[in-house]
Amino acid sequence: MELIINNAQDQKQLGECIGKAITDTTIILLDGELGAGKTTLTQGIGRGLDIEETINSPTFTIAKQYEGSRELNHLDVYRLEGLDEDMGIEDYVYDGSVLIIEWSKFIDTDIFDEYLHIQIDYLDEARKIKFTPYGTYYEELLEKVSKCII
Ligand SMILES: Nc1ncnc2c1ncn2[C@@H]1O[C@H](COP(=O)(O)OP(=O)(O)O)[C@@H](O)[C@H]1O
Ligand SMILES: [Mg+2]
Repeated sequence: MELIINNAQDQKQLGECIGKAITDTTIILLDGELGAGKTTLTQGIGRGLDIEETINSPTFTIAKQYEGSRELNHLDVYRLEGLDEDMGIEDYVYDGSVLIIEWSKFIDTDIFDEYLHIQIDYLDEARKIKFTPYGTYYEELLEKVSKCII
């Protein structure tokens, strides 16, 4: 599934749809250049999960945790590029939790069996969002998201 999103507000709205569609333990891997809108999308997902705390880019902290209708772990692994460091990312996946990783191309994604991959690319001022679901749960999640945004 591919979408064109024209501004940050709609990007958050899309995220909110994703957050609201979550019904189980969820892994979302985000890629796209600096400023593509990965954190903005995550803020929307947080809104869909009823997280009241402001979600910021965890670039320097690498991991941040938020409490909403589910626990959200938000990772930005940009600074792990080229490091062969085992930061125990699997530990962020547990019963009912939501894990979102910005810059997932810098980690070995084979550690996850199933996940939703989202690639965000610049399209002049807008963004092209490409969703790739790995697993039935994520296919169903995307179906709900596509109904939410029309
Ligand atoms: N779909 C979009 N269209 C236009 N601008 C966007 C979109 N999504 C986010 N932005 C803007 O892009 C900038 C960078 O967003 P951010 O989410 O911090 O990017 P990233 O986390 O990928 O580095 C912000 O100013 C945000 O408002
Ligand atoms: Mg970011």
